[in-house]
Amino acid sequence: MAKFLSPYSVAQLDGSPRRDYYTGANLDRALSIADLRARSHKLMPRFVLEYLEAGAEDETTLNRERAAFEQWLFLPRTLVDVSGRTLSTNLLGRPTPMPAAIAPTGLNGLFRHRADVALAQGAASVGIPFIQSAMSTDPMEAVSKVSGLRHWWQVYVFGGEEIWQELADRAEKVGCEALVLTTNAQIFGNRDWDRRTRTSRTMLSVSTMIDAALHPRWWMTTAALRKCDRLCAKGSSGLLRQRLLDQGQYAAIAVMEDGRTDSGAMEAAVFHKGHPAPR
Ligand SMILES: Cc1cc2nc3c(=O)[nH]c(=O)nc-3n(C[C@H](O)[C@H](O)[C@H](O)COP(=O)(O)O)c2cc1C
Repeated sequence: MAKFLSPYSVAQLDGSPRRDYYTGANLDRALSIADLRARSHKLMPRFVLEYLEAGAEDETTLNRERAAFEQWLFLPRTLVDVSGRTLSTNLLGRPTPMPAAIAPTGLNGLFRHRADVALAQGAASVGIPFIQSAMSTDPMEAVSKVSGLRHWWQVYVFGGEEIWQELADRAEKVGCEALVLTTNAQIFGNRDWDRRTRTSRTMLSVSTMIDAALHPRWWMTTAALRKCDRLCAKGSSGLLRQRLLDQGQYAAIAVMEDGRTDSGAMEAAVFHKGHPAPR
C-alpha cells in the first residue's frame, strides 16, 4: 500500500529537483488542496493540526482509508463527444452544479473566526449544499442568513432526544433543507496525538501554548482562544461543567467525558440548548 502514498513522482530522483507547495497568501496561486494544506501547516499551531488531521491511536484506519481512496481512479474514455460535459445532477430533488456538498466539521472556529459562515458563503457561491456540524462554533441562525445557501444541519444520535428535537425544530425554523444524521460517532475516537498536546482534558501543555503563541497569524484570525478565555474567566473548568450540567447541556458533557473539551465544544453545546453563543 505504501507505494500509493509515496510523496515522490517519476519526475523526481532522490528528492531532486526540490519541490515546494505554494504557501503564500494569494489563494489564486494555490493550485491544489495540497497547496492549501501546506499553507495551513505553515499558519496553524500543532494542536490545531492534530485536531484537524490526526487519526485515532496508531492511525491505522486513517492510513488504510487514504490508501483505499488512492486506488479510485478515473477511467479515461477517448474518441467520444466531450463537447457537452457537465457535472450537474439532482440532490434531494433539486438541481446542483456538481454531486458534492461540504461535509460537516466541528469546531471550525479553531481554524478561523466565523469559519462556518465563510464555508457557507463558499458553498453558496458555487451552488452546493453546506452541512453545518452539530459541533459548529457559529450559530445556526448566522449561517442561515447566507444568501442562496442550501443549508443542511448535521445531528448526532447521542445527546438525548431533548437535544436533537430542539435542534431539529431550530433547523426547521431557520429554513434548513435537510438533516444529516451521523451514525458512526457514538463516542469520539481516541486520538492520541491530539491528547498529547494537553496535560489534562482541559489544559494545553506548556509546549503547546508556546507553539500556539509562535503562530500569531493563527491567533489573530481565530476567536477560539478569546472565547475560551471568556468562558474560563467565569470559573474553573469544573465550575463550567457544573454550569453546563445545570442547564442540561448534555452534549457538552458527553464531549467533555470523552476528553475533547475545548471552547468550541462548550460553545456549541450552549448553542444547542438555544442560548445565544457567547461572544
Ligand atoms: C476535523 C474534522 C471534524 C469533523 N467533524 C465532524 C462533525 O462535527 N460531524 C460529522 O458528522 N462529521 C465530522 N467529520 C467527518 C467529516 O464530515 C467527513 O465525513 C470525514 O472527514 C470523511 O470525509 P473525508 O474523507 O473527505 O475527510 C469531521 C472530520 C474532520 C477531519
